[in-house]
Amino acid sequence: MSERSVAVVTGGGSGIGLASAQALAAAGLAVLIGGRREEALEDACRQVRAAVPGAVIEHRVADVGRPEDCEALVAEAADRFGSIDVLVTAAASFEPVHILDMTADAWDRCLDVVLRGSVLCAVAAARRMRDAGHGRIILISSINGAVSEPETAHYSAAKAAIISVARSMAVDLAEHGIAVTAVAPGWVDTPMIAEFVEAATPEDLRRINPLARLGRPEELAGFIAYLATDAPDFLTGSTLFVDGGQTAIAPMP
Ligand SMILES: NC(=O)c1ccc[n+]([C@@H]2O[C@H](COP(=O)([O-])OP(=O)(O)OC[C@H]3O[C@@H](n4cnc5c(N)ncnc54)[C@H](O)[C@@H]3O)[C@@H](O)[C@H]2O)c1
Repeated sequence: MSERSVAVVTGGGSGIGLASAQALAAAGLAVLIGGRREEALEDACRQVRAAVPGAVIEHRVADVGRPEDCEALVAEAADRFGSIDVLVTAAASFEPVHILDMTADAWDRCLDVVLRGSVLCAVAAARRMRDAGHGRIILISSINGAVSEPETAHYSAAKAAIISVARSMAVDLAEHGIAVTAVAPGWVDTPMIAEFVEAATPEDLRRINPLARLGRPEELAGFIAYLATDAPDFLTGSTLFVDGGQTAIAPMP
């Protein structure tokens, strides 16, 4: 069995998930990334191996909207690498819907992936971490867990619930040596918001936060890797906003 610590990253084929996988591999962890598209996952593994000499990284196709895929992804990490020490739940889809156009299907599709998928992966990981007596679970929320944007009722509800789930899991799992935190990014330059960034003017983007710029995936990844490795055990149940001050500022006319 491996002596390396082992991390699973959902949504590891792009953006913050991919950058986190790379940061964790650079920190010496064996990493299993999950996502829906085989080709994107293979490409992501190639990128990480090219950037991090000696990186141990593999992939598995896993749609976190499907409960059986959540369990299978975590099981594969344990089978392949011998343990699971860290879970990062970065998988999410973002399909804006005006509240007047909200349907049961649109609501469920979003909540099934963003909330239930994160929870089921975390529960599957926690069951194995309990047996090992240690583990770190990092749930990716969003500033939308605290503030809203147009057409995001479903996504914002899911991201707010993730903040709550991080608290509840931290409470239930403390006795097993498992720390659970949530990370709430502000706007970060990834494929998820590419359309919005393209439509925005440079002035819009400057007004987005006091730093007057988007976050970089690597900035989030560095912090996520810290939570996974060097952060004190005493840090659990908290949500850390990594948002360039986006939730600190009120818009001015
Ligand atoms: N980019 C931002 O501005 C921003 C802001 C706040 C929070 N976030 C959160 O950060 C996380 C990472 O997003 P990102 O910005 O890197 O965008 P991204 O689109 O690059 O990453 C999301 C990944 O999740 C995958 N995914 C989508 N549905 C899935 C499913 N059903 N099963 C498995 N994988 C699935 C996508 O294919 C993609 O690889 C998400 O949870 C997102 O909600 C992003």
